[in-house]
Amino acid sequence: MATIVSIHSYRGGTGKSNITANLAYLAALEGKRVAVLDTDLQSPGVHVVFGMEKDRITHTLTDFVQNKCELEECAYQMSSDLGLDGEGDGEGDGEVWLLPSSMRIEDIMRVLDDGYDVGKLHTEFNALNHALGLDLLLIDTHPGLNRETMLTTAISDVLVLLIRPDKQDFHGTAVMVEVAGRLGVPNVAMVANKVVSRIDHDDVKAKITEAFGYEVLGVLPLDEEMANLGSRGLFTKLNPEHQITHELRSIAARLIALTSEGDDSGD
Ligand SMILES: Nc1ncnc2c1ncn2[C@@H]1O[C@H](COP(=O)(O)OP(=O)(O)O)[C@@H](O)[C@H]1O
Ligand SMILES: [Mg+2]
Repeated sequence: MATIVSIHSYRGGTGKSNITANLAYLAALEGKRVAVLDTDLQSPGVHVVFGMEKDRITHTLTDFVQNKCELEECAYQMSSDLGLDGEGDGEGDGEVWLLPSSMRIEDIMRVLDDGYDVGKLHTEFNALNHALGLDLLLIDTHPGLNRETMLTTAISDVLVLLIRPDKQDFHGTAVMVEVAGRLGVPNVAMVANKVVSRIDHDDVKAKITEAFGYEVLGVLPLDEEMANLGSRGLFTKLNPEHQITHELRSIAARLIALTSEGDDSGD
């Protein structure tokens, strides 16, 4: 059974889509089979980070939630695009699938009007897991607190909350942490992003731990190169020795460790 990890933040622009895509790539480099779901149906973006051509997308998660296709039909194999060799030699032998959302305004409006059935999504996850033999299911979410993100959170094994050192983020994240507690999410972990260089990273870590009581998986600097890349590619692939890549690699390793803890049950 794949470990389901939601990557969430109280506010937009925190780095969810970029971090999700890069974590998927790094986990695949470690040999994991990873699917990325873009459940940010209102402002999808993770496909851009993967450099996915719009023409290739014929079925989306948006179609699926409107009962227009099967979940498997919107899973696009990204491994060759990402240069993963798929030869099963222990390195670079993982796989990445992307389940994108629709960019069509009519589709987005319809989902906004109708909402979507997360119960169905959960049932279908199992079928997808089975078909693709997944280790990890990463969910890129819409920011803030709404019905859909609460439901995807509720079915997650791990909730990763991204936070910037900003008072609004801290207040909003406190609410989300409380909601996650009430929803009974088994693991909650924090990641700080866009931390300016003059702030000491250990201080940030201590402050977040003190405020929320959860493990801080990593502290990522506000980085000019990352800003300059502007979501036009996978930062960690382009900058394998960068500090952000090292941090994300250790976060991916932590998530992979949680995956194998889940395997102890025998499936
Ligand atoms: N550590 C960082 N340093 C600089 N820019 C970043 C960093 N993390 C993300 N960004 C930039 O912030 C913008 C928003 O990121 P994105 O992943 O789309 O956030 P979200 O999905 O949370 O809205 C993108 O332009 C991205 O390149
Ligand atoms: Mg996003």
